[in-house]
Amino acid sequence: EAAEKGGYDAYMQKEIFEQPQALSNTLLGRLHDDQGSVELDIELDPNSFDRIHIVACGTAYYAGMVGKYLLEQLARVPVELDVASEYRYREPVVTDRTLAIAVSQSGETIDTLEGMREAMRGGAQTLGIINAKGSSMTRELDHTLYVHAGPEIGVASTKAYTSMVSAFLLLALWLGQQRGTLSKEEVARLVHEARALPRLISEALSDDRLGRVREVAQKYHQARDYLFLGRGVNNPTAYEGALKLKEISYIHAEAYAAGEMKHGPIALIDEHLPVVVVATESRLLEKTISNVQEVRARGGRVILILSDGDTENVQHAEDVLYVPRCDEMISPIVNAVPMQLLAYYTAETLGKDVDKPRNLAKSVTVE
Ligand code: G6P
Repeated sequence: EAAEKGGYDAYMQKEIFEQPQALSNTLLGRLHDDQGSVELDIELDPNSFDRIHIVACGTAYYAGMVGKYLLEQLARVPVELDVASEYRYREPVVTDRTLAIAVSQSGETIDTLEGMREAMRGGAQTLGIINAKGSSMTRELDHTLYVHAGPEIGVASTKAYTSMVSAFLLLALWLGQQRGTLSKEEVARLVHEARALPRLISEALSDDRLGRVREVAQKYHQARDYLFLGRGVNNPTAYEGALKLKEISYIHAEAYAAGEMKHGPIALIDEHLPVVVVATESRLLEKTISNVQEVRARGGRVILILSDGDTENVQHAEDVLYVPRCDEMISPIVNAVPMQLLAYYTAETLGKDVDKPRNLAKSVTVE
């Protein structure tokens, strides 16, 4: 097993470091910088549907949540998003102009598979965003967009998550290009930005950044609870950050849309509560910072995720984790990295077995 971990302490750690390669595999063959275009290896007619349903569980659901933002913003298709255990029983309104998308690392999660069967009964076309080759979903669904992240063994998903989000970026760009909701220039610009992802992720994993996340993890490892906040396309980043932390460190963590904090979780804030806020470059950054000020005013301990070079907003934080600067549309992929590392180093500090978290299975094939 030690050999399989290739010198790393845990599969999860190895898989975090495999992300630049995983993202190269997901993206590079499909993004053409010379033509400034996206080409997908699926036979989906981009004009054969007028609404999308995204169905998934766990981390894949949060990838789908980013997908919803990207598909609506870039391709202007209305998207509904459900956890599969709800979707399969809520009698969703499906038509033959619905594209139902399953997101799944394993391609075997029973609720997701049954959700797709429900969509098919309603006449939907189905597409899987899947990692595992030849899995049940790839056999049953009409189309599969493989994420090509390679085998993922750690129970807490890392490289599959960033690859699934990247697959949504590809799909949203491709639909924007094919359906004409994005200009040629805009597609070319985002293709160029997205091709930089493997490099940006390598930078996000530089030794100095790792050291900084480890310090923060050690400083707050005794916290009983954590709060994660984000907005827009990085609202799901907050949810995924909270999920990673609770899965492997067993610290209770909640995530909220930053703007929703005043409607409840603000009551929890005191000097014991670390609050991780995704505050990277965005057209809504100012609004997020005003939420941060509300946390600070109540004694909360703010850990800000900031874009490199943002020295202005440091004043609002007790601790800062910097990430490489990039376009907002690709930032959820880069911003996932400090979330994964924070969870990993917190669990390590607490002496937990990150690859075998209690009560969790890598893939859930029974209801
Ligand atoms: C389990 C795993 C999660 C995963 C979820 C969905 O709960 O512990 O890490 O996100 O299943 O799995 P899937 O294979 O469908 O992505």
